[in-house]
Amino acid sequence: MRTVAQLADSVGGLTGKRVLVRSDLNVPLDGARITDDGRIRASVTTIADLRGRGAKVVVMAHLGRPKGEPEDRYSLAPAARRLGELLSAEVSLATDTVGESATAAVDAMSDGDVVVVENVRFNPGETSKDDAERGAFADQLAALGDVFVSDGFGVVHRKQASVYDIAHRLPNAAGGLVLGEIDVLRRLTEDPDRPYVVVLGGSKVSDKLGVIESLLTKADTLLIGGGMVFTFLKAQGHEVGASLLEEDQLDAVRGYLAQADDAGVEIVLPTDVVVASELKEDTPATVVAADSMPADQIGLDIGPESARQFTDVLAGAHTVFWNGPMGVFEMAEFAAGTRAVAQALTEIDGLSVVGGGDSASAVRKLGFGDDQFGHISTGGGASLEYLEGKTLPGIDVLTP
Ligand code: 3PG
Repeated sequence: MRTVAQLADSVGGLTGKRVLVRSDLNVPLDGARITDDGRIRASVTTIADLRGRGAKVVVMAHLGRPKGEPEDRYSLAPAARRLGELLSAEVSLATDTVGESATAAVDAMSDGDVVVVENVRFNPGETSKDDAERGAFADQLAALGDVFVSDGFGVVHRKQASVYDIAHRLPNAAGGLVLGEIDVLRRLTEDPDRPYVVVLGGSKVSDKLGVIESLLTKADTLLIGGGMVFTFLKAQGHEVGASLLEEDQLDAVRGYLAQADDAGVEIVLPTDVVVASELKEDTPATVVAADSMPADQIGLDIGPESARQFTDVLAGAHTVFWNGPMGVFEMAEFAAGTRAVAQALTEIDGLSVVGGGDSASAVRKLGFGDDQFGHISTGGGASLEYLEGKTLPGIDVLTP
């Protein structure tokens, strides 16, 4: 992959050039309020660098999963506003992606200006499975730029027009955010300092199947919490009450438990669980043993004994990767497990990596600073797919 500096050299500098940047500005919103601006902050360095080189910076991004047509709630307006604040510069938002508004905004740019075009997923071509339809949209995007910089790490696992097809059409480079993410993830996969401990949580086992399988040959210990743990506990023959359960994954999970045994990889499951009769603020929560959950209760966090046990394992680790909260951290009653894991990661003597998405939002919501961790990834799915050893289309397509 070429760097922005190498791309600049190859085209005689970027001054006056229209640089199309794919950023990941997909941030969580509460109405129009951004609840975690981590991805926007992470996108600033590359955009500022391009401005500094005199480029006209045209930012492409998505927000949410609109179905190929405009929807107000998925507008990039809040993200564009925040980007402007962080850059201390005017950032204008085109009201479409490749239509009259975008074309006029780009035509009117001066060197160093920044324009964000509206959500690329307002166009059916962006996510189409049909190569020709995606390609036709990528042609329209490419007409807005002279070169392409891929900097949206969170979306490089998607074979989409603004991530993948565009790179076939324009001279391209990887932005510093993408290069930095790949660098850290490579350290996890190539000869990590041991013990290498992975903490997995979040709601669904089915989202994590590939990564669990691949980690069974790489990590020393897997700590499992979050909603997905109940499928593990059930696979071990325990009752899980009314907790989240993926019946159709029980066989796969039994297979992993057996494989881990054979490979000498330790899978640590919680021994106690915080339960409540419903998922609601102020519902009384109690702690029960993980092997005897009452039938009418829902498991919503790992218990205090488990949090201590996870913390002890983490204290001895030299490399840690964490993806997925341990419980429903958005509610104070069920946040202690996630907080304990986050705290333990801040004390690692070695490399600690927080996988993006919910875990990144969780650590910030719980009041931790980004600088307390070795690295907070901007990619949830993308970092998992990298660790699985999958090819990431948005990386693979870039000029070597
Ligand atoms: C993410 O939130 O993980 C990225 O922005 C990718 O979004 P997607 O899962 O909707 O493709």
